[in-house]
Amino acid sequence: MAIHPPADRIWWKKPIERIEVLWIGLALIWAVIMFLMMPFWHLYGKQNLSNEAYRIRPEVFAAKAEAMTAKYTVREEGDTGIPVVHPPPGSDIYLVARLWEWWPILELEKGKSYRLHLSSMDWQHGFSLQPTNLNLQVHPGYEMVVTLTPTESGEFGVVCNEYCGIGHHTMLGKMYVVE
Ligand code: CUA
Repeated sequence: MAIHPPADRIWWKKPIERIEVLWIGLALIWAVIMFLMMPFWHLYGKQNLSNEAYRIRPEVFAAKAEAMTAKYTVREEGDTGIPVVHPPPGSDIYLVARLWEWWPILELEKGKSYRLHLSSMDWQHGFSLQPTNLNLQVHPGYEMVVTLTPTESGEFGVVCNEYCGIGHHTMLGKMYVVE
């Protein structure tokens, strides 16, 4: 039984099996290769985002998002009351994550670049742009910034992919890309 000490008190002094050493060695070599690949992927790969993060108070972020929305709202989304915002290409755009919505709905132009700012008003959320599959964690107190250049037009879903409570599954937003 495990609560009794082993009968052979110096069991740990036995040499490690050669095959085990081999596997540990292989795993270590692979880990080192992967570690060294990280800066390479950052520069040349398509899967590592070059994002920035800054500290920000939720109310400051909300004020920026509200200012952008007040200036560039073009319509409302159906009868939801959620504004659809069409900011000028090249500008800073803001998306607020909060229990349980993404606000506002951004409408972007294909082939133009934007500086997308993301932050949470309350808990941790996950920004997941579908079906593109672009994923970013969204934290309260931090502002994530990423340069976004839409390459195709259409309607995209913004899904929350970090569990954030009872309404997590309803936290769905939208993003439009127009020609
Ligand atoms: Cu927000 Cu899950």
